[in-house]
Amino acid sequence: MWDRDLLSGQVALVTGASSGIGRACAEALARAGARVAVNHLPAETAEARSLVGSIRDAGGEAIPVVADVSTEDQVRSMFAEVVGAFGTLHILVNNAGIQSDAAFTDMTLDQWRKVIEINLTGQFLCAREAVREFLRRGPQPEVSKALGKIVCMSSVHQTIPWAGHANYAASKGGLALLMQTIAQEFASHRIRVNANAPGAIRTPINRDAWSSEEAAEELLALIPYGRIGEPGDIADAVCWLVSDLSDYVTGTTLYVDGGMTLYPGFRENG
Ligand code: BGC
Repeated sequence: MWDRDLLSGQVALVTGASSGIGRACAEALARAGARVAVNHLPAETAEARSLVGSIRDAGGEAIPVVADVSTEDQVRSMFAEVVGAFGTLHILVNNAGIQSDAAFTDMTLDQWRKVIEINLTGQFLCAREAVREFLRRGPQPEVSKALGKIVCMSSVHQTIPWAGHANYAASKGGLALLMQTIAQEFASHRIRVNANAPGAIRTPINRDAWSSEEAAEELLALIPYGRIGEPGDIADAVCWLVSDLSDYVTGTTLYVDGGMTLYPGFRENG
């Protein structure tokens, strides 16, 4: 766990923060000293309020902000709200994402569009607003060496093909080049853009893959490190990626996956 000096004086926005990895990131960023805006959908108001309450109880600063990240005007008003409340933004954790799984031949256009809109278009819209705000505000060297930092929440499936999840894998594959392209475009402005690629993390999105003993055993066969990841594993890595400790890191994907991308099926095969 990082201490309060790591991100003190900085403002962070975490999308999709009412549960899972987003929630852990919001908590960890607040513990590391950032003021945190907790993005959520209207249906997740209770969870977001309880998260904001627990951050405040622990001595941190947080506000809830509602927006569907795939809707341009909602994203713009969310950024205006964050800047209105905290003055500016230094850190965006582009986390909101969904799965809508189907065999390829059964996948509807609606399932395809929904996943691409939230996982990819949503990250585009939020990153664009964040970069605009970083440029508007200008350097604050006493706060951070970088003008701003963006972490795109990706997945091992930006690399590993995933049958039955064509929409999700395509969204994460697309994200890899979106992230690198923004990183290339704004590196000279000292804006750092990186991705975090989690493996199997124990969250609601993949409950079926870990909640029964049988499923967990099958899942563990894909994880050389021998345990399922926890949201905190990702949150600690995100704190490092948005802090000055990683000031020379941009355009990179940090895999936090217990070795899933080491293709353990090849240990005794191939
Ligand atoms: C998915 C999870 C899956 C994990 C490893 C993640 O990106 O959201 O459902 O368990 O990748 O396959």
